Amino acid sequence: MSGLRPVTIITGASAGIGAALARVFVRNGHVLALVARREDRLHALADEIAASGRW
Ligand SMILES: NC(=O)c1ccc[n+]([C@@H]2O[C@H](COP(=O)([O-])OP(=O)(O)OC[C@H]3O[C@@H](n4cnc5c(N)ncnc54)[C@H](OP(=O)(O)O)[C@@H]3O)[C@@H](O)[C@H]2O)c1
Repeated sequence: MSGLRPVTIITGASAGIGAALARVFVRNGHVLALVARREDRLHALADEIAASGRW
């Protein structure tokens, strides 16, 4: 397991509670896999997280 990082999967990450949890988890050092149907919103959140330097 050395060198591997656990990944936290967040469903419903495109809005509401899921998006809020994504921001909290990434602030706490988690690597995220974001899941929802609206790809544009997922990309916007992923871009926001990447711009924060916390991914
Ligand atoms: N907000 C509250 O205060 C509160 C309180 C108690 C309970 N809840 C419950 O908690 C849940 C989330 O609330 P929320 O306020 O975060 O809602 P929301 O803002 O409407 O977000 C719902 C999320 O679920 C995804 N989703 C919706 N239908 C889906 C489907 N059929 N398949 C896959 N993904 C689906 C949406 O993504 P896509 O549409 O992009 O797939 C979105 O990311 C809801 O069930 C709500 O009733 C909320």
